[in-house]
Amino acid sequence: MPDVAKHVLRDGHEIPQLGLGTYPMDDAEAEALVPEALWRGYRLVDTAVNYGNERGVGRGIRSSGIPRSELFLTSKIPGRDHGRASVRRSLEGTLTRLGTDHLDLYMIHWPNPGVDQYVQTWREMMTARDEGLVRSIGVSNFLPEHLLRLEAETGEMPVVNQVELHPQYQQEALRRFHQEHRILTEAWSPLGRKTDLLQSEWLAEIARKQGRTPAQVVLRWHVQSGIVPIPKSSNPQRMAENIDVFEWELTDEQMERLRMMHTGISGSGFDPAVHEEM
Ligand SMILES: NC(=O)c1ccc[n+]([C@@H]2O[C@H](COP(=O)([O-])OP(=O)(O)OC[C@H]3O[C@@H](n4cnc5c(N)ncnc54)[C@H](OP(=O)(O)O)[C@@H]3O)[C@@H](O)[C@H]2O)c1
Repeated sequence: MPDVAKHVLRDGHEIPQLGLGTYPMDDAEAEALVPEALWRGYRLVDTAVNYGNERGVGRGIRSSGIPRSELFLTSKIPGRDHGRASVRRSLEGTLTRLGTDHLDLYMIHWPNPGVDQYVQTWREMMTARDEGLVRSIGVSNFLPEHLLRLEAETGEMPVVNQVELHPQYQQEALRRFHQEHRILTEAWSPLGRKTDLLQSEWLAEIARKQGRTPAQVVLRWHVQSGIVPIPKSSNPQRMAENIDVFEWELTDEQMERLRMMHTGISGSGFDPAVHEEM
């Protein structure tokens, strides 16, 4: 079983260098598939209130037999729960559905700038962290302008920003910003769901040379770039394939080839400056 290396976050907590995405699994699928992933070495599981599968993820974790203390469990607060009065209620719902007394990482799912409640939401998350309900606090889909506002108004930046990122959409400027502020970049759609990334001939050539699959080359590119990918698969064989990216390396030339695959075209088409996800 692959041993997934870890990063140390700015707050001192450790995070596995690769995790399991669970969208769009429903409760029943998550209950059946999360143990399959954990038995294959995954220790980070990514869910969200809006995935509607926190109960299934929690049941899957318990039935896996893997101790909770070995896991890094992450969830996200939806837009409709932003604001002073609702963060605590939302977090308690998440903890109850997951059947745990704490999260390892709690994130704001989208900034929802039109609603403009993310700063207050962040303050409530800082309090929940200080009380031990969550170990680390982060965000998802935040732009530098949102991150700077959190720092200006609360004195604290997140330790993680989970964003859409893959070789065709590399987010280089945002990653530089993250590096300057010691924010770890987590990648959603790391395999480029809704794009033709995995069909690329360049990728196929690198995969052939490495004796690996195109998905493994992409995930190794993330890991080797210091990005934490959270690939989703409902197929246990592909789960095993996706985590087997720690005992081999891409050459500098192959990393450069991958860097040149950037098109700047997002698979989702969502722009965090205007997208409102409730
Ligand atoms: N924060 C956010 O706003 C946000 C947004 C979207 C997603 N996410 C999170 O990020 C996770 C991953 O993103 P994603 O699901 O959009 O995209 P992804 O992980 O890039 O791609 C998932 C797709 O790739 C297929 N796949 C998986 N492994 C494969 C392999 N080895 N070879 C070929 N195909 C493979 C999966 O099919 P099979 O299942 O059939 O293997 C699935 O169709 C989500 O599950 C969710 O947890 C977060």
